[in-house]
Amino acid sequence: MATMAAMSGCSGADGPTSTDSDGDAAMAGTVALGAALYSESCQACHGDREGEGNNGVAPLHNERGHTFHHPDAQLMDIILHGKPPGLMPAFEGQLTAEQVEAIISFIKTWWTAADLEVQQDISRRHQEALDKQQSAK
Ligand code: HEC
Repeated sequence: MATMAAMSGCSGADGPTSTDSDGDAAMAGTVALGAALYSESCQACHGDREGEGNNGVAPLHNERGHTFHHPDAQLMDIILHGKPPGLMPAFEGQLTAEQVEAIISFIKTWWTAADLEVQQDISRRHQEALDKQQSAK
């Protein structure tokens, strides 16, 4: 996925600050869009990077939370469809898949390089398992 490829070029902990190539500039744009959408739709419950403004119920998405233990596909699913029993609202119809991807890219700038590596590995294995399931059908 283009997003992941671009992501691996980032330092992770500090986020994409350099815009010295087209890829980095595109990534910075995606992250900026994600940041705006996040503060609009997510921050009231989840809080910001430091957990400031967290409502006491929603988990943090920073390195203290366990969001980075979920593969990309699962994060997308949770955000679009919500999480039973319904504390986490479904955003399908409000946000496009592309917008959710931007939000996920933004959240990823909060993670350490080690967290990013773990999550990339989880995403890859998850995708491989899905591919295997598909070809077994
Ligand atoms: C109304 C409050 C609320 C809003 C708004 C909200 N969330 Fe959540 N979210 C929650 C709660 C509560 C949970 C925990 C649900 C559970 O575990 O049952 C959660 C869980 C999650 C999880 C799973 C985290 C994990 O570690 O399992 C992700 C990812 C997530 N939210 C992302 C988002 C994003 C992205 C947005 C904005 C588009 C958003 N949330 C908006 C309340 C909210």
